[in-house]
Amino acid sequence: MLQLMFFFLFCSFQISSTVKSGSHSLWTLSTLIKGDTPFPEFSVVVMLDDIQVAYYDSNENNLIYRQFKSEHEDEEQKDASFVFGNIHKDMKALFYTYQFNRTHVHTLQRLAGCELLDDDTPGRQRALNAFNGVDDSALQFNVQKKALQIEGFWQIKWSQTRKDSVEWMYTHFYSPICIKLLKNFLHMKKNDVMRKVKPRVRLLQKTLPDSGGAKVTCLATGFYPRHINLTLLRDGQPVSDHQITGGELLPNLDGTYQMRKSLEVSTEELREKHHYTCTVEHLSLDNKLDVKPDLDPGVGTVSIVIPVVVLGVALLCVVGAVVFMRRRRHRDPFMNTWMSSTACT
Ligand SMILES: *[C@@H]1O[C@H](CO)[C@@H](O)[C@H](O)[C@H]1NC(C)=O
Ligand SMILES: *[C@@H]1O[C@H](CO)[C@@H](O)[C@H](O)[C@H]1NC(C)=O
Repeated sequence: MLQLMFFFLFCSFQISSTVKSGSHSLWTLSTLIKGDTPFPEFSVVVMLDDIQVAYYDSNENNLIYRQFKSEHEDEEQKDASFVFGNIHKDMKALFYTYQFNRTHVHTLQRLAGCELLDDDTPGRQRALNAFNGVDDSALQFNVQKKALQIEGFWQIKWSQTRKDSVEWMYTHFYSPICIKLLKNFLHMKKNDVMRKVKPRVRLLQKTLPDSGGAKVTCLATGFYPRHINLTLLRDGQPVSDHQITGGELLPNLDGTYQMRKSLEVSTEELREKHHYTCTVEHLSLDNKLDVKPDLDPGVGTVSIVIPVVVLGVALLCVVGAVVFMRRRRHRDPFMNTWMSSTACT
């Protein structure tokens, strides 16, 4: 549940889409909650890429690891109480600068973290604040130049002295600590975050009964990590973005992801007999994966424009599959089940 919440937060801050595919990130989501609630005033969820690795709150004052034991626990506990203690104090001070009503529950959230690029060098380090769910200030630290850039509410409120002291803290503490923790966690969790799972891709064409046109959909699912390039092509040329719907990355329950992109095709365009294909680029694939349309458009979507062709092809497919299955049945039981489930779908 937390993971899902974090996932949507990720998207709303638009961080995930710009991260390069082989890089890794450590994000902390800190929540300061004021008002009558059963929750601790301050809590932190620590995420390595899209996997929760630890939790911290102001009642426990201790880092609680999720499903693993750290090799550097003592040092990490010290770092955590230093960094999270500071974030807690800072967020409390910031909280009282907002307009709020003491009879209501209010939350101040901060998403802060760092990235490690493909070549093992530190990438961007960022922090973003949201008060009652609305983003309002952001900060970016350039590790190479040791320079801090601030936006929004912070930019208005901070004096140059304040900015200099925060920059100093990032240079000497926050940035090195974040990268060190990221490397430790990456080592401990490599089997989870460095796994590569290939997408299953289908290209479906469905007739739209109202207009007589069709909807062409490319669906990729079951892949990990989440970075994917999914492109719909018309006669080999990418279809322009404004004609495409979908494209949101969605989580599956097993920790993998799915994405679909659709294109509506008018009756006139259907008559022009274009060829639609889909290509997929993913870390798990050595080459681009090119996908042609499924022959059977699926239950209840049999094309009314060319029903004879579709039926004929479906029939051929069924006959072919049955013949093929009979031939293989005694030899290869796995092939047998695989064929019957995928031959015509
Ligand atoms: C705070 O909320 C209460 C209950 O909704 C309302 O009666 C009161 O007027 C609010 N106070 C302010 C200052 O907005
Ligand atoms: C997707 O395309 C962009 C731009 O061509 C490229 O930089 C990136 O590595 C690609 N991502 C994957 C997962 O192949």
